[in-house]
Amino acid sequence: MSTGTTEITPMLQSFLSSPRKILIDGKWGNTLSEHTFPTFNPATGDVLCQVPDGQKEDIDRAVKAARHAFEQGPWRTLTPSERGKRLWRLADLMEQRTEEFAQLESLDNGKPVTVARGADVPLAIDLFRYMAGWATKIEGNTIPISVPYAPGAQFHAYTLREPIGVVGQIIPWNFPLLMATWKLGPALAAGCTIVLKPAEETPLSALLLGELACEAGFPDGVLNIVTGFGETAGAALAAHPDVDKIAFTGSTEVGRSIVHAAAGNLKKVTLELGGKSPMLVLPDADLASAIPGVFNATFFNTGQCCGTGTRLYVESRIFDHVLAGLADQAKQIKLGSGMEPTTDMGPLISENQHQRVLGYMESGLKEGAQAIVGGHRYGDTGYFVEPTVLVNTAQHMKVVQEEIFGPVLCAEPFIDLEEALEKANNSMYGLTAAVWTKDVSQAHRIASRLRAGLVWINCHNIVLDAALPFGGYKQSGWGREMGHEAIDLYTEVKAVCAQL
Ligand code: NAI
Ligand code: MG
Repeated sequence: MSTGTTEITPMLQSFLSSPRKILIDGKWGNTLSEHTFPTFNPATGDVLCQVPDGQKEDIDRAVKAARHAFEQGPWRTLTPSERGKRLWRLADLMEQRTEEFAQLESLDNGKPVTVARGADVPLAIDLFRYMAGWATKIEGNTIPISVPYAPGAQFHAYTLREPIGVVGQIIPWNFPLLMATWKLGPALAAGCTIVLKPAEETPLSALLLGELACEAGFPDGVLNIVTGFGETAGAALAAHPDVDKIAFTGSTEVGRSIVHAAAGNLKKVTLELGGKSPMLVLPDADLASAIPGVFNATFFNTGQCCGTGTRLYVESRIFDHVLAGLADQAKQIKLGSGMEPTTDMGPLISENQHQRVLGYMESGLKEGAQAIVGGHRYGDTGYFVEPTVLVNTAQHMKVVQEEIFGPVLCAEPFIDLEEALEKANNSMYGLTAAVWTKDVSQAHRIASRLRAGLVWINCHNIVLDAALPFGGYKQSGWGREMGHEAIDLYTEVKAVCAQL
């Protein structure tokens, strides 16, 4: 198979030419029904390969394997140092397959292979190495005790941080490999066992990752991967009575249904949901970096990032200049297949998302917004849309309030900074935010006022480091990914108290 001008590696050719399997208890096999579904190349709409359509009974088998590996398997007795080594080994194996992962991400998701090579894959490798280091540093405390009614009694009290148990992980399609690693890394470092359900749109890189995990020496049943749809496999995992924690990334709407499903056995829940990130550009900002920075924040990954900058508030004196700069860049952007090395922006993920994003553009224009650039579908094959900048938008519009998840920016001028801050915070979401200014004190004052889990100063979207906690205020989610915060959320605290 040849797509664009990037030649698919022979290893990947053979990976794509045979039907994929699911991973349960260290063995690759079919689902019980043996039904499959196709995964598509969003640049062309062509089928890439068939993937098992996992159902409740397959999730049951996977959870059983994970439970067995957690309670009885060698995983539990492996030293923290050994756990860390295996994570590091997995990272090394991934590094050797960088090209295959990059091409797979491009084919399955549509993103430029150059971006996957330079960002998705190295970030994923780095995440595992960062988490490998945590495996040996998950510590409790000693606690001084004062019992008021037992004078003279002595106690020795301490806490242990133990793995939370069997975890279900449900991930989206916008960064298929990276979202898998964000979830797997801390869970494996903490000693949990896992059932992972990749997104139905992009199941392939997780399956390749699963092959490498087997090679890296994770014991059978520690990592199980079941492909399938959200309403079936995903819902079964979220509701499963023998799963101790469910970690989900995706839409706020499905996040809410995960919470309901989890209520049955009151499993722990972490959620990384939608966003509607505001960006503030102050009059003293260095516009030579702010304009391309805002541009990248909006259009990177075709706007399909939970942290995408989607609402721009620019001081009125520089508004026209900033907007002209953004429009100029938008006109130069090269859309195409991600496998074409010169492509800047790939397609949206699916027909569904294509319709959804085009629907938002239409609704914005109907409600009185004006597109200074873009506003339409691009081409007539694949799921492309033009990079779009809307002005004359207002707070009540759907395009300003709802997550579009496409390359659409809503820009408004401001005179009063207080009013801009109020608008920035006027959202049900609170995932990320950015401020552009040369005034250091002002920047930090504004950072403290923005209701978001991650605030960027003079940058946006570029720092997604494994050490930096990521997650949302308000309806953008519960808990954090990455950093030691993620490790904490895969552990239970046990207090032990002995009377001496
Ligand atoms: P989605 O939330 O339906 O899908 C994300 C994951 O959840 C997939 O693995 C899917 O199979 C699973 N899922 C779906 N329904 C489920 C259920 N009832 N129980 C358990 N798992 C379920 O997102 P979708 O439909 O692909 O995209 C719709 C919108 O969601 C996007 O336009 C965007 O606004 C938002 N989204 C946000 C993401 C983020 O990173 N925060 C990622 C993907 C989508
Ligand atoms: Mg869906």
